[in-house]
Amino acid sequence: MFEGKKVLFSGMQATGNLTLGNYLGALRNWVNLCDEYECFYSVVDLHSITIRQDPATLRKRARSLLMIYIAAGLDPEKNCLYYQSHVSGHAELAWILDCFTYMGELNRMTQFKDKSAKHADNINAGLFTYPVLMAADILLYQADVVPVGIDQKQHLEITRDIAQRFNAIYGDVFTIPEGYYGKVGAKIMSLQDPSKKMSKSDENPNGSIYLMDDPDTVMRKCKRAVTDSEAQILYRDEQPGIHNLIDIYSACTSKTPEEVVKEFDGKGYGEFKMAVGEAVISVLKPLQQRYAELEKDKAYIDEIIKANAEKASYVSSKTLRKVQHKVGFPDRVR
Ligand code: TRP
Repeated sequence: MFEGKKVLFSGMQATGNLTLGNYLGALRNWVNLCDEYECFYSVVDLHSITIRQDPATLRKRARSLLMIYIAAGLDPEKNCLYYQSHVSGHAELAWILDCFTYMGELNRMTQFKDKSAKHADNINAGLFTYPVLMAADILLYQADVVPVGIDQKQHLEITRDIAQRFNAIYGDVFTIPEGYYGKVGAKIMSLQDPSKKMSKSDENPNGSIYLMDDPDTVMRKCKRAVTDSEAQILYRDEQPGIHNLIDIYSACTSKTPEEVVKEFDGKGYGEFKMAVGEAVISVLKPLQQRYAELEKDKAYIDEIIKANAEKASYVSSKTLRKVQHKVGFPDRVR
C-alpha cells in the first residue's frame, strides 16, 4: 500500500506528564524513522480509560501529547499522528480478536497483574483485555515493526500469537509484527531511585524530569538526584545514580559515557550535576518553544487531527473489512 515501505506503529498513553525518559528513550528516536517506514503514532486514549480518568484532564492531556509529538520533531505530514478514539476500527477489531484470545493467555500478562494490584478497587474487563486492544492497534495497520520498551514486550508477543492463530485459520490476513530495536534510545532511570525507570506515573515528582519543566525546576531536580558517597564519577553498576546521570548527560550532549567520565575526572558531584542540568535544559528548550507556538495555533492542530484521523481510518478500514469478511460477517451492500 505504501510503495514498498514497511509500516511502523506505536502508541503512547496521554496519562501523566511525559518525562525526559520518554523523550530520550523513545520520542526523539522516532523522528527520522519516517524516511524508512510509513509511521503511525497513536495517542491511545481507549487504553487510558482502563484506569479511571478525569474527563477534562484526559482530553487536555491527549491534545497535549499530540502537540508534544509534533514539538519533538515528528512531522505530521510525514507521520500519521492521531487519536485512537477517532478511528472506530480499533475497538471493532479488538472485539473480534477478543474471540481469538484465551483467558489463560491474558491471565499471564505481568502488566495486568501489576495494574490490578495497584488498582484493586477497579479491576475491570478492559484492564484484562488491554493487550487485545493493543494487538488490534498494531494489526489494523499491518505493521511490520513496533518500537516498544521492555515493559511492552509481552504484549507484542501476545499480538504475534493472536495474529498467527488468526492466520492459521483464515489464511494470510495479518502481517506478523516484529519489535523494533533499531537504534535503542537511552534508558533513563528515576533521579530518586536509580533502580527504577523514570516514569510518568511515578508518585514522587522529583524522580522525573518532565518535558515541560522550567529550567529552575530541572536544575533543582538534578541537584537533588540521589548519588552515593564514592566521590568519583565513574561509569559502573556499583554507582547507579552517577551511572544514570552520565547516561542523561551523554544522551543530551551526544558524548559517549567514556568521554563524559574523562571530562569530569577529578571533579565533584555538585559540578557534574550542574552540567547535567544545563545539558537537559538546552535539550528541552527548543521543544518547549515549539510547543508554545503550537499551543497558539489551534486551527493548525485541529486540521492535523482531522486529516490524520481520516488517513488512519482509511488505512485501517482495509484490514477491518477483510477481517470482517473472513470471520463470516455479511459483506456491505454498496
Ligand atoms: N501499551 C502501550 C504503553 O503503555 C501503549 C500502546 C498501546 C502501544 N497500543 C500500542 C504501543 C501499540 C505500541 C503499539 O506503553
